[in-house]
Amino acid sequence: MLKEVTATRYITPLREGGSLPGLVEADDLGTYVMKFTGAGQGRKTLVAEVVCGELARRLGLRVPGLVTIGLDPVLGLGEPDPEVQELLKSSGGRNLGMGFLDRAIGFDPLAFAVGPEEAGRVVWFDALVNNVDRSWRNPNLLMWHGELWLIDHGATMIWHHNWPGVEASAARPYDASDHALAPFAPDVAGAAAALAPLVTEDLLAEVTAGIPDEWLAGEPGFDSPDALRRAYARPLLARAADIHERIRGIAAHQEDR
Ligand SMILES: Nc1ncnc2c1ncn2[C@@H]1O[C@H](COP(=O)(O)OP(=O)(O)O)[C@@H](O)[C@H]1O
Ligand SMILES: [Mg+2]
Repeated sequence: MLKEVTATRYITPLREGGSLPGLVEADDLGTYVMKFTGAGQGRKTLVAEVVCGELARRLGLRVPGLVTIGLDPVLGLGEPDPEVQELLKSSGGRNLGMGFLDRAIGFDPLAFAVGPEEAGRVVWFDALVNNVDRSWRNPNLLMWHGELWLIDHGATMIWHHNWPGVEASAARPYDASDHALAPFAPDVAGAAAALAPLVTEDLLAEVTAGIPDEWLAGEPGFDSPDALRRAYARPLLARAADIHERIRGIAAHQEDR
């Protein structure tokens, strides 16, 4: 279970990607980046954030802490921006919150160096969850207090948009040629040796337990939230074993340079 807080104030939108996350204050006095169930991409984006964020943290990668944020749509009434007002009005109930890394700056591959070990761990993790949103154009990596932090795991696990095709989809290779850390000689074999053994059924059960039931309810073909939690775990368990052998584009990228 993730910690549950309640939104007390909408501070400002974070206009960067398409999903219109907002900066929100909560009743625990924390400041969170909030992602809304009413946003275009819907609650599967939030499920992906929980699965990837909780998994990454357990693998020793840096990700902001996650909570769920209860939202009373009344909070939207005072918002002058109609787009924000609409978003708040359609997102009553549990939403996702992520610890706000105050004054973090976007990772710039030309300005920061990352070692092969750390680059390998990030690329391997992104291959595991099939993250297509860590390109050099849009790295979704932040530098905070001199260290690299991972954010934005909404565009991962493409198979959760088509459960009947999950096996074929999860068996596909991962193309890392555009990955923001591809130029840093990522040691994915070393990462696999260190991290793959940690990705066990028990660990994934712990990770998926963090997904709120209300984001899992009603998925066709699953008769309970727990059945769907197990479906999230299976392809990750399978990919952990050998995805490092199916990462494309890293060597090619190095030859290009
Ligand atoms: N935890 C965080 N701490 C500080 N800034 C953040 C955090 N999460 C997101 N941001 C900022 O907000 C932007 C949008 O967030 P992101 O999660 O990438 O959503 P999306 O790209 O789907 O709109 C990021 O590029 C980053 O600048
Ligand atoms: Mg983003």
